[in-house]
Amino acid sequence: MSEYHRYDVLVVGSGAAGASCAIRLAERGYRVAVLSKSSLHSGSTWLAQGGVAAVFDSEDSIEAHIRDTLAAGAGLCHEEVVRFTVEHGPAVIQWLVERGMNFTRDPATGEFHLTREGGHSHRRVLHSADATGKAVAETLTDRLLAQPTVRAFEDHVIVDLITQADCNSRKIRCTGAYVLNRRADRVDVFLAKAVVLATGGASRVYLYSSNPVEASGDGIAVAWRQGCRVANMEFNQFHPTCLYHPQARSLLLTEALRGEGAVLRLPSGERFMDRFHPAAELAPRDIVARAIDHEMKRLGVDFVYLDITHKPAEFVKSHFPNVYEQCLKYGFDITREPVPVVPAAHYTCGGILTDLHGRTDLKNLYAIGETAWTGLHGANRMASNSLLECLVFAWSAAEHIDRVIDTIPEPAEPAPWDESRVTYSDEDVVISHNWDELRRFMWDYVGIVRTRKRLERAEHRIRLLQREIQEYYSNYKVSRDLLELRNLALVAELIIRSAMERKESRGLHYTLDYPDTSPIARDTILVPMNFAGQEVIVRCDPPSGHL
Ligand code: FAD
Ligand code: SIN
Repeated sequence: MSEYHRYDVLVVGSGAAGASCAIRLAERGYRVAVLSKSSLHSGSTWLAQGGVAAVFDSEDSIEAHIRDTLAAGAGLCHEEVVRFTVEHGPAVIQWLVERGMNFTRDPATGEFHLTREGGHSHRRVLHSADATGKAVAETLTDRLLAQPTVRAFEDHVIVDLITQADCNSRKIRCTGAYVLNRRADRVDVFLAKAVVLATGGASRVYLYSSNPVEASGDGIAVAWRQGCRVANMEFNQFHPTCLYHPQARSLLLTEALRGEGAVLRLPSGERFMDRFHPAAELAPRDIVARAIDHEMKRLGVDFVYLDITHKPAEFVKSHFPNVYEQCLKYGFDITREPVPVVPAAHYTCGGILTDLHGRTDLKNLYAIGETAWTGLHGANRMASNSLLECLVFAWSAAEHIDRVIDTIPEPAEPAPWDESRVTYSDEDVVISHNWDELRRFMWDYVGIVRTRKRLERAEHRIRLLQREIQEYYSNYKVSRDLLELRNLALVAELIIRSAMERKESRGLHYTLDYPDTSPIARDTILVPMNFAGQEVIVRCDPPSGHL
């Protein structure tokens, strides 16, 4: 039998976005449930290396950060969203520092040490050595668990959102979620006046990815199923430098290495990035990843090299202790030898369409962090702008919830989860097989370089897979693997559909059929058949609360 839980706010996801939003709400006295699909130590936030971009150098400026973000986004960023995010950067960093975050400081001045990454015209990336995400996540998790009004639920996987008719607006509103409690092996009911999706990205839809297994696009899928629009799903960012090694599929070698002087070389030892962009290794990520892909295909090689051996070994070890240790485990000493690297799927620039408060099309449903599309990243995210977006939109969503929550009636109790017609599956191999197939054809047909023909092939395969998955879902008890597969297949469909709609090449979407960039930049917005209808206007008044 389902267990029922009632909270003021349900936050799905415990990464930088979910945890900071939950802390802000709890600090105002709200009762908050935070779900995590596995342990609280899961998700991309834990793996972030480079850092958080924000303007702290006196020679840098908000205008320069905005300009760089717009340039990286290839004409598709929403300038007011970029301004909003960048302007609030220093304040959210300050908030994090007040909660215990230790960013690396310059020993001489005591100021934050700022590193550089691709697309940034100044040093503006705050970091904690080369394991910034771990430090951010530990700080947030400690604060989260110290809140008396927060309860964290590990191994709880959202299955679908719960809605009910809203008497005031005559629209539907979100009132909670059905959640698979993996420890008790049952589906529970979580009710709340507001629900925040902070489930991270979807890069595990690709065979090679820098992301953890949790990144299966669950938030995007559940929001779409309940009538929310999604935007710009064709823009999947491939990080240029993941270690090439059979046992190290998802080990990222941070862009900050290139920021501190590392260069890319062909197997012959020749540098090549200056042939592709004046900023060479520090060009925006889409350009570097595509250049590597081009050279690998031209030469028929499986990888290129990243080389930082010209820097003093002590410098490398002290700035990049995590990367140094990780590479050593795989037999590479980065202070002595160039390391083989390949691009891998890294970041989902598209997502659930939201406004400046994180509101979605479904009343009382918010989406923040990588699962959301805010308009910040355009056709290509600039390095270290993601953690920034998580922190800024966690704040603005919490502000909005605080403003409206007293006007929201208590949710009615829905029917429990019905499992009367399903059984335990006796062939889970179908799930793992479909996972592999999906991720491989997405890599082969919907990767760094696309064509209409490849997209059509992918579209055909996804339809077949979805039919099989739906049949499986209707007949068997839900499991985490099945839920992820069902969501990934839906997200793959949304990516393919979006890619087919874009008849140009721009930023991360490059197609041989339309190699030019159109003079007019348009977002790809997909509208579900059951559109929930709370028209979110992307340009709206920013929150006015204190940071
Ligand atoms: P995540 O941190 O991914 O958290 C998602 C949460 O949702 C997890 O708790 C997960 O368990 C939970 N969840 C997911 N699905 C469900 C479900 N169905 N039910 C319940 N819970 C669920 N960005 C930067 O700005 N700077 C960097 O230096 C940087 N480096 C990176 C390095 C790596 C290797 C990677 C992978 C990413 C990096 N990024 C970086 C990107 C950035 O880390 C992410 O975009 C960001 O951390 C996303 O945060 P989030 O809170 O949205 O999601
Ligand atoms: C990195 O450290 O290279 C990742 C930075 C990012 O994805 O923003």
